[in-house]
Amino acid sequence: MKRISLTQYLVEQQREHSRIPPPLRLLIEVVARACKHIAISVNKGALGDVLGSADTENVQGEVQKKLDVIANEVLIEANEWGGHLAAMASEEMDSIHIVPNRYPQGEYLLLFDPLDGSSNIDVNVSIGTIFSVLRKVGHHQGISEDDFLQPGKAQAAAGYCVYGPQTTLVLTLGDGVHMFTLDRETGSWVMTANHIQIPHDTKEFAINMSNLRHWARPVRKYIDECLAGKDGPRGKDFNMRWVASMVADVHRILTRGGVFLYPWDQREPAKPGKLRLMYEANPMAFLVEQAGGLATNGQQRIMDIVPTKLHERVGVVLGSRHEVERVNAYHAEGA
Ligand code: AHG
Ligand code: MN
Ligand code: MN
Repeated sequence: MKRISLTQYLVEQQREHSRIPPPLRLLIEVVARACKHIAISVNKGALGDVLGSADTENVQGEVQKKLDVIANEVLIEANEWGGHLAAMASEEMDSIHIVPNRYPQGEYLLLFDPLDGSSNIDVNVSIGTIFSVLRKVGHHQGISEDDFLQPGKAQAAAGYCVYGPQTTLVLTLGDGVHMFTLDRETGSWVMTANHIQIPHDTKEFAINMSNLRHWARPVRKYIDECLAGKDGPRGKDFNMRWVASMVADVHRILTRGGVFLYPWDQREPAKPGKLRLMYEANPMAFLVEQAGGLATNGQQRIMDIVPTKLHERVGVVLGSRHEVERVNAYHAEGA
């Protein structure tokens, strides 16, 4: 099989399929280049003095790791000057970052979780970068946080890069999900899988079991039935995985199926969940749906939720279609 590069894929999408305009092609190329840069820092680890805490807090009250800050800066610097963006938003910034006046303003909005799985940085376990692309709607002057508050179904593109045993970029432009592996010798992203499909059935679930006592009843019922295995109502044994980096858990699901849950729980009842809607749940939901899976909060399709604030949180159930449907059904019947 003749392999194509990310650049070739994007040029073909632009030229032959008119799927993407040139500024969106540039945007994806720039994000991919930034991810390459982040991958280099990640790989240096202790040798590059990138491990440990930055001794600062982000808007969510989480202590920032050095790599959270580094990855955020890399993405901002790479994307500021190309003329493709109007503004950016990030897990690591309280409010939006508007493209400075000295550069041309584009029509796209970029949102990102610069470093996902921060608790895994120092222990050398897979981490990643998640991104989501929206368009600025309307012709009004200026840009504000309100321009970002669009439902996930409005995304023009989404993806993530996983820094694991391999560095892999996974992308959707709304025409399926494609994977590109970084060839470190040539420095290029090479397509290694295309039109990925998640099997509708699975025997593998991912959830942080330490929160079991805090879950709502429908989630408990679902997991209890998985744990009951062959002798239980599901009539089959289930396996469990929890990397604690959403990128890595979603990557496994895109590769071999499975279901991922980070549901609402009673630890902080006022919060709808732990994960952030706009730069974690939405891009992953777009990828999973494009791969034939489903992504909900137990009640509602994630990509239909209209955000009311930038750092909004959401419960997440995503992956193999039949399992997500089952979790939804348990919520509907108030199990
Ligand atoms: P981040 O490092 O960007 O804050 O995200 C971490 C998220 C997600 O990647 C993962 O699925 C989840 O937090 C893990 O949470 P627990 O430590 O509660 O299991
Ligand atoms: Mn994250
Ligand atoms: Mn993060």
